This record gives sequence, structure tokens and C-alpha cells, in this order.
Amino acid sequence: MPHRARLIHVPRRGRDLCHMAFRQTLDLLRVTDETLAELCQECPSVPDPDALVVRALNEMTLGEPGQGTRAPSHVFLVHARGEEFEGVLYRSTPEGFRPARGPIRFRADESHAFSVGSGDVTVSNWEDDGGDLGAYQNRFHPEVREAIGEAVRNFVSYRVAGDRPGAIIAFNYPDRATRYEAQVLAALAVTLGAVWTLASRVAQVEEAFVYLIGALARASEVNDEVTGDHIVRVSRYCEVLARAAGYTDTEARVLAYSSQLHDVGKIHTPRELLRKPGPLTEAETALMREHTLHGEKIIGTSPRLATARRIAGAHHENWDGSGYPRGLRGEEIPREARLVKIVDVYDALRSARPYKPALSHEEAMEVFERGDGRTRPGAHFDPELLRVFRSVHEEFRRIHAEIQPW
Ligand SMILES: [Fe+2]
Repeated sequence: MPHRARLIHVPRRGRDLCHMAFRQTLDLLRVTDETLAELCQECPSVPDPDALVVRALNEMTLGEPGQGTRAPSHVFLVHARGEEFEGVLYRSTPEGFRPARGPIRFRADESHAFSVGSGDVTVSNWEDDGGDLGAYQNRFHPEVREAIGEAVRNFVSYRVAGDRPGAIIAFNYPDRATRYEAQVLAALAVTLGAVWTLASRVAQVEEAFVYLIGALARASEVNDEVTGDHIVRVSRYCEVLARAAGYTDTEARVLAYSSQLHDVGKIHTPRELLRKPGPLTEAETALMREHTLHGEKIIGTSPRLATARRIAGAHHENWDGSGYPRGLRGEEIPREARLVKIVDVYDALRSARPYKPALSHEEAMEVFERGDGRTRPGAHFDPELLRVFRSVHEEFRRIHAEIQPW
């Protein structure tokens, strides 16, 4: 974001203050709207609560040139942590709010100007508080006072409710702190309290969602010859290959967890077939191939699992149309499935089976170059993704060495 010059303008009339408060609240709503959009995407990015406050403060107080703004000199963000409170003090700079001191810890029973959890907004100016600026300083925590580095002349504080209770205290507005400042700070505190609560609930659900995907994948392979480490490696390889292939970080994360379900349909495949050492009969091969369709059915139609469904259904399709279950060819095959196919074959080549030994990394890369009895690189793989895979193959070697059978 380009730097916007800060213009400290001290309005004298209530109408100017009201207009400024309105504009600052609109800026806050825009930040809130953007944050909610990030929380509602396929793979939500959950914001750091303090970073969110600083971003909102910056949007609200770094006014456009000519418009003027009223920013406090310091903002103290404090939240409850067990029996204590912990806070970080931010200082206003021409580039926005920057941490000045923290964390500052104090007990709940320590007496200070702000009463965390009281639920009341406080607007205070030293002139209205006995008119003794020196005595006024005693109302503030010594560390906060010291970090501010100048006399505190006014402050506004407001409680933050929700999953991360605490308070926002803004110090030293130009001239006096007014009820307009209090209204803006209240809007910030109420909105951010709600966003924090929502973000922490989203994070919990997201964590459970990704955990359950891994658990389902491991459960479905209980009869298979492969072990849980195969799933972990496939997931890690996928993230590496996806990033190298131009997927965004979010898309790569979605691909990584979704890839774990590529063989979930094998839960329907008979155990003796999965562990049969010799070649399969024609009927057995047909039965084995059904795991792709079973996988699609198990995963279902949830939009959050659309990538997983595409991968499960198409990870055995071949670029030249010779794969199964539908004989798709080229770009008819979902790109995520073409990517997982490369990853799945690499890990299979590197793993020992009852009917074959494990290959070294070099031997596996040789198969991707020249093929073997089962794998024909030119016919089976997306040539562009194969090129990307070759460019990051050392990462695959490293991941395989790192994640070995449990
Ligand atoms: Fe498979």
C-alpha cells in the first residue's frame, strides 16, 4: 500500500468531528468486510488479532491528503491471559502504528485508568480530572507511561468482548478526546471483538476438518499394503509440486489436504485383493479400479471437498486417454488429478511392495525419464507438470528421506 501522508488536523466544530468519525467508521467497515471475505474462502486464512487491529487503526487514521484525521499518539491493546492481563503498546508513526513496547503484563487487581471488562467506554481529559497533569499520570501503568515517553493528556478506552476479552486504550488525541473518538473506538472494539470470535471459531472448525480428512484417509487404508506415511508424503509432495506449478498458497494447501483422500475408495476393495502379491486377474483388476468411483461417492458433493472428489475420481486417468475409470485424456483430466498422479507414482516407485523392491530416488527419476513395464511417462503424465516435477525433484528426495514408516 503506498504511503499516505498523515495530516493532523484539529477540527473545532462538532460537525467536522462527526464527519471524521463517520469516515473512520466506514474505513473500519471496509477492513471488516475484507477480513470476513478472507474467513469465508475455501481455505480460510485466520488473521492474527493484534495485526488486524493495527491494520484497522492504520486504515482509519492514515487519512487521505487534504481530508485531515485525528489519530491518538499511542494505542494499548490488552487482553486477559489467565489471572493476568497482557498488552502491547503501539506508537503512531508517519508509516502507521508500530509496536513501541510489549508485552506488558499486570494483575487484574492492579489499579489503572482502564477497567478491563467493565463494559463501559471511558473518555478522559486531564483538564476535567482535577486539573493536575502530574497527578493525572499516576492513573497509568508505569511501563505504559514510560513507553509513551510524554505526559498523557487524554485517553479513550473501550472493552473488547468475545473469545479474546480485553480492551483498546487510545492515548493523546490532538487537543481533547471527545465523544466522537469514543464512538469510533467503540465501533472498532465491538467489530473486532466479533471478528476475533468468528476467526477463532473458524480456526477450530478448520483444524477439525483437516484432521478428520487425514483420519478418514488413514482409516480407509487399514487393509492396504501402504501405511500412513504414504498419505503424509503424498500430501507434502503435492504442496511442493502445486506451488512450483503456479498454484497460490491457499490452493496448494487445499490440494495438499485433499490429496490425502485419493484412495479413500479402497475401503470397499477386498483386503485379499489389496495384498495379493501376484498379478491380478481381469475381474480383480476391474474390482480394484472401482476404488476411484467409490472414492467419489464417499467424498460426496460438498463444495469444500470438490478438489478431493476430482482427485479421487481421476488420479488413474492417463494423459493419452488409456487410464481409468472414464478414459479421459489431456486437459479433460482435472489438473489436480494429473498432479496427484505424478506424486502417487513417485511414492509407489520409492516404496517396497510384495512383488517389487523399493527404488532409489535416482532409479525412480529414471522411470520418469524412460519408463518401465508399467509406467510410460510420455503417455501417462501431463508433460508440463512432468517438467515442473523434474525441476523440484530434489524436494521429493528430501521429503521421502524425512517421512519414513511409523
Ligand atoms: Fe488409487
